[in-house]
Amino acid sequence: MKIAFFDSGLGGLSVLHHARRVLPHEQFVFYADETHVPYGTKTRAEVESFVAEAFEFLLKQDVKAIVVACNTATSVAVPAMRARYDLPIIGMEPAAKKALALDPVHRVLVTATPITVAGEKMEHLIERVDHEHLVDRLALPELVTFAENMVFDGPEVEAYLRKALAPYQLEDYSALVLGCTHFNYFKPAFRRILPESVRFIDGNEGTVAQLIRKLKERGELAGEEQEQTVEYFYSGERVTEEKELERIEMCNRQLDKVYEL
Ligand code: DGL
Repeated sequence: MKIAFFDSGLGGLSVLHHARRVLPHEQFVFYADETHVPYGTKTRAEVESFVAEAFEFLLKQDVKAIVVACNTATSVAVPAMRARYDLPIIGMEPAAKKALALDPVHRVLVTATPITVAGEKMEHLIERVDHEHLVDRLALPELVTFAENMVFDGPEVEAYLRKALAPYQLEDYSALVLGCTHFNYFKPAFRRILPESVRFIDGNEGTVAQLIRKLKERGELAGEEQEQTVEYFYSGERVTEEKELERIEMCNRQLDKVYEL
């Protein structure tokens, strides 16, 4: 059986990228909802129905787990999907807890989409982990559009980030949390703006670790005789066009480049 990775678009490839390194024998299905991306600036009701549609499709693909490689979709729809379906559903939330565990003294800047930043799930997370009021939140919706257009860096990206980050005393921060999977592509641009002392924190490793735990519990990890495969879907359509497969490869090359940053 396969493991599905689902995102509104191509951001979720960053989580799959890590999963492919640590799970060399699994068969993956990657679903990008390219018809509806971006999610982060839509209404919660719209996102809810997009996620339900994607799940219906994925459940027909012989999957043993679904990773919602999207903080926005997790924030809106994962509880409802868990109530509806009886398979492991792994969600993502901005890794503010991890950032504060690494440095409980300095400030933490959580970047995400407007839906994630303003959502109830984020409020609960802050209540739970941010006892010293160190966490600030910043929505960066344009990064999703840049990523979908394969613009990972350059003057426009840099100008957007410089403007968005200008109100913050960046020396006071220990971490920038990448709370949207699309933001991983922009580490080089962020790096030029952030002081050396600010580290990146993302939820990719934690999410894949949770996936592995769940599959182990059920005795469902693939055996060593199986070879890794990846199938790509855009909103329920198998991606076969050379141009689109090359677009996905461009993302993967950028992810190779930023992996250690
Ligand atoms: N990649 C998604 C996330 O992690 C959302 C991007 C969007 O569609 O707005 O939140």
